[in-house]
Amino acid sequence: MYITKPNKEFPSDFLWGSASAAYQVEGAWDEDGKGRSVWDEFVRIPGKTFKATTGDKAVDHYHRMEEDVRLMKEMGLKTYRFSIAWTRIFPDGNGEVNEEGVAFYNRLIDELINNDITPMITVYHWDLPQALENEYGGWESRHIVDDFVHYAKTLFERFGDRVKHWIVLNEQNVFTAHGWLMATHPPGKVNDRKTFYQVNHHAFMAHAKSVIALKSLWSDAMVGSSFAFGPSYAKSDKPEDAMAKMDYDDLQSYYWMDVYGYGRYPRAALAQLRSEGVAPVFEEGDEEILKEAAQLVDFMGVNYYQTCVAEYNPIDGVGMTNTMNTTGKKGTSTVQGVPGLYKNPQNEHLPTTDWDWTIDPEGLRFACRDITSRYDLPIVISENGLGAFDKLEEGKVHDPYRIDYLKRHLIELKKAIDEGCRVLAYCTWSFTDLLSWLNGYQKRYGFVYVDREEDENEGTLNRIPKDSYYWYKYTIETNGAEL
Ligand code: BG6
Repeated sequence: MYITKPNKEFPSDFLWGSASAAYQVEGAWDEDGKGRSVWDEFVRIPGKTFKATTGDKAVDHYHRMEEDVRLMKEMGLKTYRFSIAWTRIFPDGNGEVNEEGVAFYNRLIDELINNDITPMITVYHWDLPQALENEYGGWESRHIVDDFVHYAKTLFERFGDRVKHWIVLNEQNVFTAHGWLMATHPPGKVNDRKTFYQVNHHAFMAHAKSVIALKSLWSDAMVGSSFAFGPSYAKSDKPEDAMAKMDYDDLQSYYWMDVYGYGRYPRAALAQLRSEGVAPVFEEGDEEILKEAAQLVDFMGVNYYQTCVAEYNPIDGVGMTNTMNTTGKKGTSTVQGVPGLYKNPQNEHLPTTDWDWTIDPEGLRFACRDITSRYDLPIVISENGLGAFDKLEEGKVHDPYRIDYLKRHLIELKKAIDEGCRVLAYCTWSFTDLLSWLNGYQKRYGFVYVDREEDENEGTLNRIPKDSYYWYKYTIETNGAEL
């Protein structure tokens, strides 16, 4: 569209935000009654993470929470999205509540509210209690749904009086693909498509039942799950590439978003999965529950980092077990795809980061427009940001590349808003530097530099605002009028 009179500013109640996840920032991995999560175990398997980095200490947010919130306040942040560590609330996944864990999050929530920052909670950002993995195989068992909903309800009951923005699941598509297809997240399975789709069905049921539970407790709460949306462009005008795009969209995007937004799977995707014998098994009543939850969802959560290209992939073509670039050496990742359907080559028109992620600000607008056309739902951009090598020089971090990245994404987001998309919030990834699951501490995303390296014993953990911190502060002050 070409809007002739765009608004100068973002909407007056726009939530300028930033995000994090418990495992990536908190540290204190075995303190105050916390149980072990699958990530506490997985990082200890040799070869799984970059230079064997762990979140044992992370950036020590657990002990420096007040300082971090003070920095948010000074920046003028309107919302902070963070996740709760399930193992702090229920060390073994179910059973008795660990009150010390609840107390930590109460302090964080109160600190945010006292500083005029709206808390936005992610219920699940991948750190499943290891006890549930041991007990019944975690997400692979239908038992997980009840334990998840019990955990989620506990959060709603304890924090719902003050927290009105909830994200149930973070990137269900990512943690399941890495966990059951690529072996790069726990439980480290390779190409187990049947389990992958069943696990996803359990996660959808956990999402749906949590949404219903939240709304029955707090009808004024706003809820959705966050999807890692990588919109696709067809490689060429060949019909086979257009069909590859459609297959990609149905199997890689709408498979998740249609369940959140409509309460049903895309028909073509299900037909494909049935023909392969890998379609998920439903229990009686599941269809109705998914539909009911889709009616209650308030927004589509979107983590946007990049778009991709969809190209026809012959039956003897590439599969999902690709080589990922976890070192920051450009050009070391390889193409992945599904034989007979699609593959995702690099977009030759777009630049990439040092970790080979495509940089495409217009893709953010595309994502918002697609969601708006398809679901007509409001949108929360729950993550967007640039992972880069930052250097601390004479007490300062100059990161013009991050400012440029965020600015260009915001310009496109603003266009999407002018075009009618209802975008409620924009959270950058991330507020402070933090642990990148597979890429260690050298891949930095924050507005605030944290002095630490891969080695646990190196660095003071001091916080140093980067240039981008001051740029975002000004952007918030001017409500995005001077991008
Ligand atoms: C998202 C996750 O996938 O992207 C975050 O929700 C993650 O937890 C972020 O850190 C960036 O990914 P990475 O691999 O660069 O850390």
